[in-house]
Amino acid sequence: MAFTLPPLPYPDDALAPHLSREALELHHGKHHQTYVDKLNEAVPDKTNDDLDSVILQAREGPIFNHAAQHWNHSFYWQCMAPGGGGKPAGELGEAVDRDFGSFDAFTEELHGAAATHFGSGWAWLVDDGSRLLVTSTHDADLPLTHGQRALLTIDVWEHAYYVDYRNRRPDYVTAFLDHLVNWDFVAKGFSTSAA
Ligand code: FE2
Repeated sequence: MAFTLPPLPYPDDALAPHLSREALELHHGKHHQTYVDKLNEAVPDKTNDDLDSVILQAREGPIFNHAAQHWNHSFYWQCMAPGGGGKPAGELGEAVDRDFGSFDAFTEELHGAAATHFGSGWAWLVDDGSRLLVTSTHDADLPLTHGQRALLTIDVWEHAYYVDYRNRRPDYVTAFLDHLVNWDFVAKGFSTSAA
């Protein structure tokens, strides 16, 4: 069973001007596709393991890196939507207030984690089983290996923002939070994890 590149859940120009068509074409069509291709080269042809199992069995090395980057990017595309941003409502909004004090305190913490993460990686909102947390991971690492459930991620590898923002990672993070977050998707993951 070969792994395949999932289509973007929106047209490749739908997130402009915050992320341009060129940026998404490169990020999805080249970077993410390459992770999928290299994963398929690295795993046995007839594996029936799902992606989570491949990640958890590998734990490190090339198979882990390509599998985790496939997982992370597949998740990242769903965390964005045209006309996104704003605030979460309902139970997720209440949980954010409960665990961070306020929505503004949460966004400040997530912005800080994403903007200041050293080198390549990912900033996350996760459910650790008892509360919501902001975390960041290096390179391909992801909450799955830490026993946490991912609810939202921001790709802070340079390839995620260099086309549109050059070296201004904080501006990319601000645009992500203000205009791109798909809170409906985050809320769906949260209601599943709370069930
Ligand atoms: Fe990326």
